[in-house]
Amino acid sequence: MPAPSTARLYADHLATLQARAATALERAGFDHLVIPSGTQHFQVFDDRDYPYAVNPQFKAWVPLTRNPGSWLVITPGHRPRLIYLQPRDYWHVVPEAPSGYWVEHFDIVVIRKPEEAQQHLPRNAAKCAILGESQSALGHYGAYRPNNPQAVVDHLDYHRAFKTPYEIAMLRAANRRAVRAHAAAERAFRAGASEFGIHLAYCQAAGQDANELPYGNIVALNEHAAVLHYTELGRRAPDPLRSFLIDAGAAHAGYAADITRTYAADTGSEFQAMIDSVERAQRAMCDQVRAGADYRQLHLDAHLALAGVLRDFGVLRISPEEALETGVSAVFFPHGLGHGIGLQVHDVAGFAATETGGTIPKPTGHPYLRLTRSLAPGMVVTIEPGVYFIDMLLEDLRDAGKGDAVDWNRIAAFRPYGGIRIEDDMVCTDDAPENLTRDAWAELDAA
Ligand code: GLY
Ligand code: MN
Ligand code: MN
Repeated sequence: MPAPSTARLYADHLATLQARAATALERAGFDHLVIPSGTQHFQVFDDRDYPYAVNPQFKAWVPLTRNPGSWLVITPGHRPRLIYLQPRDYWHVVPEAPSGYWVEHFDIVVIRKPEEAQQHLPRNAAKCAILGESQSALGHYGAYRPNNPQAVVDHLDYHRAFKTPYEIAMLRAANRRAVRAHAAAERAFRAGASEFGIHLAYCQAAGQDANELPYGNIVALNEHAAVLHYTELGRRAPDPLRSFLIDAGAAHAGYAADITRTYAADTGSEFQAMIDSVERAQRAMCDQVRAGADYRQLHLDAHLALAGVLRDFGVLRISPEEALETGVSAVFFPHGLGHGIGLQVHDVAGFAATETGGTIPKPTGHPYLRLTRSLAPGMVVTIEPGVYFIDMLLEDLRDAGKGDAVDWNRIAAFRPYGGIRIEDDMVCTDDAPENLTRDAWAELDAA
């Protein structure tokens, strides 16, 4: 059976969003859902603008990410309306007339100035749930000021965890783009490029620059890999080159990929062997992305698995269970196993207990976990275990009198490599999970 077209998938996606919106509005007592795309922001005392970032609530409905000053009006029982700002402007390239698989579903009104949007918004602002930033406010005394009703936001955000087939197709495409760029980055690393050079090779292959990518590239050589969010982009390659950790994504139609790989310069080294062990463990974790699995448990299981790797390599002198119990495993794995991903790299509602609110707490001692929900078909999450050698945390361990739990000579041997992280984007299904990242890689390798 041929795959359904993007147009078909989008039509179904829109119907799903409309149903969610209708329920949210009815429960909260509003007639309309109104969503501004957002505004351009400027640096203080300057006319320089910041990169525009679209309101995620807006791009959930339409694949428009570069259109400040536009608005959506969703009224149950009516065709959705797009108020589309196409300014008269000879300083900048103005957005083209809307086109593509999605436009036929909207009544589209083109405006030339941002304030003209108001005349096309519902007359009674009090009946509108307006989702956005306060800077989008329009009208006298900000009559159309985003009010972000909690009940509406909670409902939409909770359900956004369940991706439609259209959204999964977009995430597949984002992964394809990102793995192409990851392959180029590895080639640049093997050729001796600096972090900055690798970053440029990545952007070139992704066809996206820093403002278009879903987050700042983490490109780390040697010890720099021990900084969880290292974004310095050194201009000179270190000598000798030992290791390379890259956490970098790509965007497609507003959806994000989030992928990490780690490489050893010497593929016969013990560090390569540790990468291979972490990768084996990571693949097993990916396979646990199953309907009904409690993500908190996957995170705790990951601690045990990684502590097992560290014990096998002689770094840990205590059992994985004791390492988890005493907090020693968190010295090496000091972040969460992963998070929901979609329109946002760290997608919303990771802790949402229900569609009407409430929070599922994190396990005690694991403050950086971003997802505590149980998995269900349609959820897309990252699985990104890490093993890091971070001086600050190792010193804290020693200061806490727990230094005997580790072999400091083994730590000294691995410290110059910084750390290891391996991250894939996974779809939970009714059956075996779909690995968007590895499938895209297999496709690339086969091409
Ligand atoms: N790239 C950020 C993260 O992996 O969560
Ligand atoms: Mn991630
Ligand atoms: Mn990442």
